[in-house]
Amino acid sequence: MRDYSDLQQMNERSLAQQAAVRKATFSPSEVKTLRPFSIWEISTFMFDLPADTLRKKLAEDPSLPQGMVEDDGRQRWFSLAEINELRRRLRFRGKALLPERPKGRALRVAVSNFKGGVGKTVVAQHLANAAALDGYRVPVIDFDPQATLTHSMGLVEVKEWNTVWGIMCRDLCREADRIMESYDDPADCPYPAADELPKDVQEIGTMRTQDFIQRTAWPTIDIIPSCANAAFVEFASAQYRSLHKAWSFFGCVARYLDELPEDQYDLVIFDCPPAIGYQSLNAAFAADILYIPSGPGYWEYDSTTSFLGQLGDALQEIGDGFGKIAADAGIRLPKRFLDVRLLMTRYEASNPLHAAMLQAFRNVFGADVCQNPIEMTRAVEQSGRFQMSVYEQDYREMTRETWKRARLSFDNAYQEFKVTMLAAWKARNEGAGA
Ligand SMILES: Nc1ncnc2c1ncn2[C@@H]1O[C@H](COP(=O)(O)OP(=O)(O)OP(=O)(O)O)[C@@H](O)[C@H]1O
Ligand SMILES: [Mg+2]
Repeated sequence: MRDYSDLQQMNERSLAQQAAVRKATFSPSEVKTLRPFSIWEISTFMFDLPADTLRKKLAEDPSLPQGMVEDDGRQRWFSLAEINELRRRLRFRGKALLPERPKGRALRVAVSNFKGGVGKTVVAQHLANAAALDGYRVPVIDFDPQATLTHSMGLVEVKEWNTVWGIMCRDLCREADRIMESYDDPADCPYPAADELPKDVQEIGTMRTQDFIQRTAWPTIDIIPSCANAAFVEFASAQYRSLHKAWSFFGCVARYLDELPEDQYDLVIFDCPPAIGYQSLNAAFAADILYIPSGPGYWEYDSTTSFLGQLGDALQEIGDGFGKIAADAGIRLPKRFLDVRLLMTRYEASNPLHAAMLQAFRNVFGADVCQNPIEMTRAVEQSGRFQMSVYEQDYREMTRETWKRARLSFDNAYQEFKVTMLAAWKARNEGAGA
């Protein structure tokens, strides 16, 4: 018979060997880098300006970034930082090349579905990459302790206090203080003060807003990462909730994001776990838009249906049961989204079952279904150690047609996403859903 102590011993043995195993199987010197982009890509996919016009503008003004010339001397390659500088300095037909950016704080989009493996992380990663290539500044938040997005962004060593769990602990300290201070006589406050909370929570409470944000290989994509240890957040959060019954545990991430300077970022993308819990509720509460990927199979349809029901019920329960706590914390209930969209992923147009399922989604959910499904593509299936996105892969390493087709599928989905995002953003600024 074996019990918890066996599991603990196995954990200790594994931890003791972890560095050696990593050394043997995983090259620590392999750091994720972002490749440069060719004039062909910039003119075709980013600036919508003829390659010759771009070359001419570069030749006319040597003070513009000139990229690197490849060994064969034919093609120039530009880093994303250089592309963004060109964007700031060039105009084409009297128009600036910067993307439209409404006023106010960054828009927040949760990519979520309780069905595992539908393509949430791939969608979150590609939307973030496409938006960054479009000129936006994007932080991504990995709400999933599987940490797939974190690994694909190239981070390997993440501690749990640097994850959403850390943000929740810090929020508990700050809220405990705020609630205590709201009493004329603190002795009347029936809830604990921050200095009565567990020591590790208090330590995390001293972290600063920007401490949770980490850089990635992309100059304009930052990340709040996750890690396997953050899975215990669900247990710990339940315990903290019972320690402080006036804590609006579902509003931590929204409050955290409100602390960031309004103009630091443009678009925040959340990658959610395939489960309902404290983390996914925080993602839902912080989100302006819910983007729900679903695969083209019947069981994916079935679980997307359950997801809508379960999330709806959870938000209703919070609306019914936490009205006073939320009102005290300045949160308006029920939670409102500026938009909710369903996005079909891993779609094969030539497969009649997929076509039938897309039609079924459209019949049931109407205009809430995105027009452009994301195609099943080998470019994503075989994306290597860091799970490189189609955007990160060099098109010379596969047939250009395969790459271009995959890229266009994600580009079309992104263009549609951008329309949704800008419409929601403007509606928010005009007061809807505020
Ligand atoms: N468009 C696509 N074409 C080909 N393969 C895809 C595509 N989208 C996702 N995949 C593959 O499907 C698998 C699951 O994708 P992903 O990790 O994005 O799903 P997920 O919903 O985030 O899963 P989880 O619920 O475990 O977080 C991965 O191996 C991924 O490479
Ligand atoms: Mg995932």
